Amino acid sequence: MIDAIYQRRSIRKYKRDPIERSLVEKVLEAGLLAPSSKNRQPWKFIVTTGEAKKDALRAMKEGLSREREKPFLPESAPYIRDALFTVRIMEQAPVVIFVMNELGYSLEKELTRDEHVSEICNAQSIGAALENMALAATDAGLGSLWICNTYFAYPELCQYLDSPGELVAAMALGYAMETPQARPRKKMADAVEWRS
Ligand SMILES: Cc1cc2nc3c(=O)[nH]c(=O)nc-3n(C[C@H](O)[C@H](O)[C@H](O)COP(=O)(O)O)c2cc1C
Repeated sequence: MIDAIYQRRSIRKYKRDPIERSLVEKVLEAGLLAPSSKNRQPWKFIVTTGEAKKDALRAMKEGLSREREKPFLPESAPYIRDALFTVRIMEQAPVVIFVMNELGYSLEKELTRDEHVSEICNAQSIGAALENMALAATDAGLGSLWICNTYFAYPELCQYLDSPGELVAAMALGYAMETPQARPRKKMADAVEWRS
Protein backbone atom coordinates (compact mmCIF):
# COMPACT_ATOMS: atom_id res chain seq x y z
CA MET A 1 0.00 0.00 0.00
CA ILE A 2 3.00 2.31 0.55
CA ASP A 3 3.70 1.89 -3.19
CA ALA A 4 0.21 3.19 -3.86
CA ILE A 5 1.01 6.37 -1.91
CA TYR A 6 3.83 7.08 -4.36
CA GLN A 7 1.94 5.94 -7.47
CA ARG A 8 -1.45 7.59 -6.88
CA ARG A 9 -2.31 10.52 -9.14
CA SER A 10 -5.51 12.44 -9.75
CA ILE A 11 -6.79 10.98 -13.02
CA ARG A 12 -8.74 13.29 -15.31
CA LYS A 13 -8.99 11.08 -18.43
CA TYR A 14 -10.74 7.72 -18.31
CA LYS A 15 -11.34 4.82 -20.65
CA ARG A 16 -14.99 3.99 -21.27
CA ASP A 17 -14.51 0.42 -19.99
CA PRO A 18 -16.80 -0.44 -17.07
CA ILE A 19 -15.31 -1.56 -13.74
CA GLU A 20 -16.19 -4.93 -12.28
CA ARG A 21 -18.43 -4.49 -9.22
CA SER A 22 -16.02 -6.54 -7.07
CA LEU A 23 -13.27 -3.95 -7.70
CA VAL A 24 -15.55 -1.06 -6.75
CA GLU A 25 -16.45 -2.99 -3.59
CA LYS A 26 -12.76 -3.42 -2.79
CA VAL A 27 -12.33 0.37 -3.01
CA LEU A 28 -15.42 0.95 -0.84
CA GLU A 29 -14.22 -1.58 1.72
CA ALA A 30 -10.96 0.38 2.08
CA GLY A 31 -13.10 3.46 2.79
CA LEU A 32 -15.12 1.63 5.42
CA LEU A 33 -11.91 0.56 7.19
CA ALA A 34 -10.79 4.19 7.74
CA PRO A 35 -10.45 5.54 11.26
CA SER A 36 -13.11 8.02 12.33
CA SER A 37 -13.62 10.44 15.18
CA LYS A 38 -15.24 8.53 18.11
CA ASN A 39 -15.75 5.75 15.55
CA ARG A 40 -18.77 7.70 14.33
CA GLN A 41 -18.21 6.57 10.70
CA PRO A 42 -20.17 9.56 9.41
CA TRP A 43 -19.92 8.50 5.77
CA LYS A 44 -22.47 7.20 3.31
CA PHE A 45 -21.44 6.33 -0.24
CA ILE A 46 -23.85 6.58 -3.17
CA VAL A 47 -22.36 4.65 -6.08
CA THR A 48 -23.65 5.80 -9.46
CA THR A 49 -23.17 4.31 -12.91
CA GLY A 50 -25.16 4.48 -16.16
CA GLU A 51 -28.44 6.42 -16.05
CA ALA A 52 -28.14 7.23 -12.33
CA LYS A 53 -24.78 8.85 -12.94
CA LYS A 54 -26.16 10.78 -15.93
CA ASP A 55 -29.09 12.07 -13.85
CA ALA A 56 -26.79 13.16 -11.01
CA LEU A 57 -24.51 14.98 -13.44
CA ARG A 58 -27.54 16.64 -15.04
CA ALA A 59 -28.36 18.01 -11.57
CA MET A 60 -24.75 19.15 -11.18
CA LYS A 61 -24.82 20.93 -14.56
CA GLU A 62 -28.12 22.64 -13.65
CA GLY A 63 -26.41 23.84 -10.49
CA LEU A 64 -23.43 25.19 -12.41
CA SER A 65 -25.73 27.12 -14.80
CA ARG A 66 -27.69 28.50 -11.87
CA GLU A 67 -24.39 29.39 -10.17
CA ARG A 68 -23.65 31.97 -12.90
CA GLU A 69 -26.98 33.75 -12.29
CA LYS A 70 -27.56 33.19 -8.59
CA PRO A 71 -24.32 32.05 -6.93
CA PHE A 72 -24.35 29.77 -3.94
CA LEU A 73 -20.58 30.38 -3.59
CA PRO A 74 -20.18 33.98 -4.80
CA GLU A 75 -16.50 34.32 -3.95
CA SER A 76 -15.62 31.15 -5.88
CA ALA A 77 -16.97 32.41 -9.23
CA PRO A 78 -13.49 32.25 -10.88
CA TYR A 79 -13.51 28.48 -10.34
CA ILE A 80 -16.80 27.68 -12.10
CA ARG A 81 -14.87 26.87 -15.29
CA ASP A 82 -12.83 24.28 -13.35
CA ALA A 83 -16.06 22.81 -12.07
CA LEU A 84 -17.39 22.47 -15.65
CA PHE A 85 -14.19 20.66 -16.54
CA THR A 86 -14.68 18.39 -13.52
CA VAL A 87 -18.20 17.49 -14.72
CA ARG A 88 -16.76 16.41 -18.06
CA ILE A 89 -14.31 14.14 -16.23
CA MET A 90 -17.19 12.69 -14.19
CA GLU A 91 -19.10 12.05 -17.43
CA GLN A 92 -16.15 10.08 -18.78
CA ALA A 93 -15.49 7.99 -15.67
CA PRO A 94 -17.68 4.86 -15.56
CA VAL A 95 -18.31 5.17 -11.81
CA VAL A 96 -18.91 8.25 -9.67
CA ILE A 97 -19.32 7.80 -5.93
CA PHE A 98 -21.08 10.64 -4.11
CA VAL A 99 -20.01 10.94 -0.48
CA MET A 100 -22.42 12.14 2.18
CA ASN A 101 -21.60 13.20 5.73
CA GLU A 102 -24.66 11.76 7.45
CA LEU A 103 -23.89 13.74 10.61
CA GLY A 104 -23.04 16.95 8.75
CA TYR A 105 -24.62 20.33 9.39
CA SER A 106 -26.23 22.35 6.64
CA LEU A 107 -23.94 24.99 5.14
CA GLU A 108 -26.69 27.51 5.97
CA LYS A 109 -26.57 26.76 9.72
CA GLU A 110 -24.54 28.82 12.17
CA LEU A 111 -22.60 26.38 14.32
CA THR A 112 -21.84 26.41 18.01
CA ARG A 113 -18.17 25.82 18.86
CA ASP A 114 -18.91 22.16 19.77
CA GLU A 115 -20.78 21.63 16.52
CA HIS A 116 -17.92 23.23 14.63
CA VAL A 117 -15.38 20.85 16.21
CA SER A 118 -17.59 17.84 15.55
CA GLU A 119 -17.99 18.97 11.92
CA ILE A 120 -14.21 19.26 11.50
CA CYS A 121 -13.64 15.82 13.06
CA ASN A 122 -16.30 14.22 10.86
CA ALA A 123 -14.83 15.90 7.77
CA GLN A 124 -11.38 14.55 8.68
CA SER A 125 -12.86 11.07 9.11
CA ILE A 126 -14.42 11.23 5.66
CA GLY A 127 -11.11 12.51 4.26
CA ALA A 128 -9.40 9.43 5.73
CA ALA A 129 -11.99 7.21 4.03
CA LEU A 130 -11.52 8.97 0.69
CA GLU A 131 -7.74 8.66 0.85
CA ASN A 132 -8.02 4.94 1.71
CA MET A 133 -10.29 4.59 -1.32
CA ALA A 134 -7.92 6.47 -3.64
CA LEU A 135 -5.02 4.27 -2.50
CA ALA A 136 -7.05 1.07 -2.82
CA ALA A 137 -8.07 2.17 -6.33
CA THR A 138 -4.40 2.68 -7.27
CA ASP A 139 -3.56 -0.71 -5.76
CA ALA A 140 -6.31 -2.33 -7.85
CA GLY A 141 -5.06 -0.73 -11.09
CA LEU A 142 -7.81 1.90 -11.17
CA GLY A 143 -7.58 5.66 -11.54
CA SER A 144 -9.47 7.97 -9.21
CA LEU A 145 -10.29 11.64 -8.77
CA TRP A 146 -11.31 13.17 -5.46
CA ILE A 147 -13.85 15.90 -6.23
CA CYS A 148 -15.17 18.84 -4.22
CA ASN A 149 -16.34 20.96 -7.15
CA THR A 150 -19.70 19.35 -6.35
CA TYR A 151 -20.10 22.21 -3.84
CA PHE A 152 -21.02 24.63 -6.65
CA ALA A 153 -24.12 22.54 -7.27
CA TYR A 154 -24.71 21.70 -3.61
CA PRO A 155 -28.46 22.53 -3.50
CA GLU A 156 -29.23 20.69 -6.74
CA LEU A 157 -27.12 17.61 -5.93
CA CYS A 158 -28.44 17.30 -2.35
CA GLN A 159 -31.97 17.50 -3.70
CA TYR A 160 -31.29 14.97 -6.45
CA LEU A 161 -29.42 12.51 -4.18
CA ASP A 162 -32.17 12.77 -1.56
CA SER A 163 -30.11 11.14 1.20
CA PRO A 164 -29.74 12.18 4.87
CA GLY A 165 -26.89 14.54 5.74
CA GLU A 166 -24.68 16.74 3.62
CA LEU A 167 -22.90 16.06 0.35
CA VAL A 168 -19.17 16.56 1.01
CA ALA A 169 -17.38 15.13 -2.02
CA ALA A 170 -17.45 12.74 -4.93
CA MET A 171 -14.93 10.28 -6.26
CA ALA A 172 -14.62 9.34 -9.93
CA LEU A 173 -13.28 5.85 -10.65
CA GLY A 174 -12.24 4.20 -13.87
CA TYR A 175 -9.36 2.84 -15.88
CA ALA A 176 -6.88 5.66 -16.47
CA MET A 177 -6.29 6.95 -20.00
CA GLU A 178 -3.37 9.15 -18.90
CA THR A 179 -0.27 8.86 -16.73
CA PRO A 180 0.17 12.29 -15.17
CA GLN A 181 3.45 13.44 -13.69
CA ALA A 182 3.53 13.91 -9.94
CA ARG A 183 2.44 17.43 -8.99
CA PRO A 184 4.89 19.47 -6.94
CA ARG A 185 4.87 19.00 -3.21
CA LYS A 186 6.12 21.16 -0.37
CA LYS A 187 9.65 20.29 0.69
CA MET A 188 10.00 18.54 4.03
CA ALA A 189 11.80 21.60 5.43
CA ASP A 190 8.89 23.90 4.46
CA ALA A 191 6.13 21.69 5.81
CA VAL A 192 7.67 20.21 8.92
CA GLU A 193 8.97 21.81 12.07
CA TRP A 194 10.82 19.60 14.53
CA ARG A 195 10.80 20.57 18.17
CA SER A 196 12.60 18.89 21.01
C1 LIG B 1 -10.48 17.73 -1.02
C2 LIG B 1 -10.07 17.65 -2.47
C3 LIG B 1 -10.90 18.17 -3.44
C4 LIG B 1 -10.54 18.09 -4.81
N1 LIG B 1 -11.43 18.52 -5.75
C5 LIG B 1 -11.12 18.40 -7.06
C6 LIG B 1 -12.07 18.73 -8.06
O1 LIG B 1 -13.21 19.10 -7.79
N2 LIG B 1 -11.69 18.64 -9.37
C7 LIG B 1 -10.44 18.19 -9.72
O2 LIG B 1 -10.14 18.12 -10.93
N3 LIG B 1 -9.52 17.83 -8.79
C8 LIG B 1 -9.83 17.90 -7.47
N4 LIG B 1 -8.94 17.49 -6.52
C9 LIG B 1 -7.63 16.93 -6.92
C10 LIG B 1 -6.48 17.89 -6.63
O3 LIG B 1 -6.46 18.92 -7.58
C11 LIG B 1 -5.15 17.08 -6.63
O4 LIG B 1 -5.19 16.13 -5.59
C12 LIG B 1 -3.91 17.96 -6.46
O5 LIG B 1 -3.77 18.87 -7.50
C13 LIG B 1 -2.62 17.11 -6.36
O6 LIG B 1 -2.49 16.26 -7.50
P1 LIG B 1 -2.41 14.67 -7.32
O7 LIG B 1 -3.69 14.21 -6.70
O8 LIG B 1 -2.27 14.10 -8.73
O9 LIG B 1 -1.24 14.35 -6.47
C14 LIG B 1 -9.29 17.51 -5.17
C15 LIG B 1 -8.46 16.98 -4.18
C16 LIG B 1 -8.85 17.03 -2.85
C17 LIG B 1 -7.97 16.39 -1.79
